[in-house]
Amino acid sequence: MCGIVGIVGQSAVAPLIVDALKRLEYRGYDSAGVATIEAGQLARRRAEGKLVNLEKRLKSEPLDGTIGIGHTRWATHGVPNETNAHPHFSGDVAIVHNGIIENFAELREELKADGYEFTSQTDTEVVAHLVARELRRGARPVDAAHRALQRLDGAFALAIMFRGDDDLIIGARNGPPLAVGHGEGEMFLGSDAIALAPFTNSITYLEDGDWAVVRRNHVQIYDMNGEPVERQRRQSIGTSLLVDKGNHRHFMEKEIHEQPEVISHTLAHYLDFVSGKSKAVEMPFDFARIDRLAISACGTAFLAGSIGKYWFERFARLPVDIDVASEFRYREMPISPDSAGLFVSQSGETADTLASLRYCRKAGIPISSIVNVRESTMARESDGIFPTLAGPEIGVASTKAFTCQLSVLAALAVRAAAERGKISADEEKVLVRHLSEAPRFASQVLKLDKQIERVAHHLASVRHVLYLGRDTNYPLAMEGALKLKEISYIHAEGYAAGELKHGPIALIDENMPVIVIAPHDRIFEKTVSNMQEVAARGGKIILITDKAGAEAATVRTLETIVLPDVPEIIAPIIYALPIQMLAYFTAVFMGTDVDQPRNLAKSVTVE
Ligand code: G6P
Repeated sequence: MCGIVGIVGQSAVAPLIVDALKRLEYRGYDSAGVATIEAGQLARRRAEGKLVNLEKRLKSEPLDGTIGIGHTRWATHGVPNETNAHPHFSGDVAIVHNGIIENFAELREELKADGYEFTSQTDTEVVAHLVARELRRGARPVDAAHRALQRLDGAFALAIMFRGDDDLIIGARNGPPLAVGHGEGEMFLGSDAIALAPFTNSITYLEDGDWAVVRRNHVQIYDMNGEPVERQRRQSIGTSLLVDKGNHRHFMEKEIHEQPEVISHTLAHYLDFVSGKSKAVEMPFDFARIDRLAISACGTAFLAGSIGKYWFERFARLPVDIDVASEFRYREMPISPDSAGLFVSQSGETADTLASLRYCRKAGIPISSIVNVRESTMARESDGIFPTLAGPEIGVASTKAFTCQLSVLAALAVRAAAERGKISADEEKVLVRHLSEAPRFASQVLKLDKQIERVAHHLASVRHVLYLGRDTNYPLAMEGALKLKEISYIHAEGYAAGELKHGPIALIDENMPVIVIAPHDRIFEKTVSNMQEVAARGGKIILITDKAGAEAATVRTLETIVLPDVPEIIAPIIYALPIQMLAYFTAVFMGTDVDQPRNLAKSVTVE
């Protein structure tokens, strides 16, 4: 993933580049670097680890150049150290890259045979050498870049700078996003509009295969054949304010606490609480006319989609195919011409989800996406979008975006049910009222923090945790396990409670906490049987339920977390909060980097 920035500016650009990189740190934080042209020479500062290390470096060894490129890295090829940090140089060429050059091994051999030496283990260095070789062969910088780009397979966004021309940066996009920012006598390149927000709101997004010649007073975009192309310039809604943690210790904690408000905003976008009906939000397809819905997403968004499947099938009798996007895109599934595609993504940039979207686009069905970033590639490539109104989510582990995705999916399922004639107007009213209660119940759950913190204290001392749930609580169990893994590095598995006896039961002993997510619903008794099986083998049960469930559960638990009694449709939204809080407090006890856990990134634009 990685974030890239380029500035052809008026004054020293290094501090501005660092400012923009701060906004891109969600894309990776293994290392960072900046290069400028100082007195006619390429110069760079790079540092392993978070951006603060680069900032320190720049403080002691400043750069003054008025043109520069910068990078924050999520390592794909080569360990995260300073040598592998971008920018990479070759002769007069400096380059930053986001993505993967798939034919890099072959190009590397070719360049080595031509006498080029490699100083890093990255795939990026081949691009620097390719451009430098074209220069050596006599090409001018723009042509050298174009020729080199034509040799590349894979997914990339690039910014290339040349010693000898301090009024030129080349940007190129094939896959990961890249935006040009238009200024007055200065120009910008960045992985997204938010990175460029402090400098300009006038943005042109490059399309796949585009490359741009960026100069202080002019930008020209070309396609891969070298033909000039026109791309729409738009006003970005990106805010230049950097979101801060308020009085919270971590962004994740702040984002968990924002949920009552953002769930409320999101639901209000789709539902009219006064009339008890869905609002007429523009739709790219008609629920009454489709026979299936194909949902695809990654990570937490996939688990939101998996819960959505239960809702669409239960309330709207609409069959749903769902798959993680990395499988969906390659498994050559037949797409019914009467179906619609729905893609769920906080960032709207995840490479596999985008590829699934394009697969469905090719199949000719209407495309919609649930996104948090309205200017994202997925949003732009969809026939219609269903925004989540979560606001910027900074913590790498998704929390508020997840519950907002659930809110949209639930609201859409109710709309689908009404439009398909599967519920009466009165039933619709009841469901809308139930959804309207979600923010209030979410606020109540946040008050259980002391008890949840106590349970987390126990979890912080174990090595493995099992999460169990049935029905919509099954994907939620997987989400609980994913959250814990992501930020506390404790191994966790989420299982359908009924599957326990088909394998995971072998793991259970007195050291294994089993977190059971079980509101007192129509299948509660079934889950109680599974808890008995755990208890009989000495497993320590942490039960998350409601008052009726706590009374009816005839099993001894290590701890029972009692949530308010909530209507069935909002249970997954409300039960998401204690599992997020459990993971959060556990990670705090473990002393991990909660907001930027190791090896992860918030936006994954590589396969
Ligand atoms: C990364 C993030 C996850 C997220 C997933 C999908 O793995 O760390 O939190 O769920 O990508 O991201 P998306 O932006 O498509 O929702």
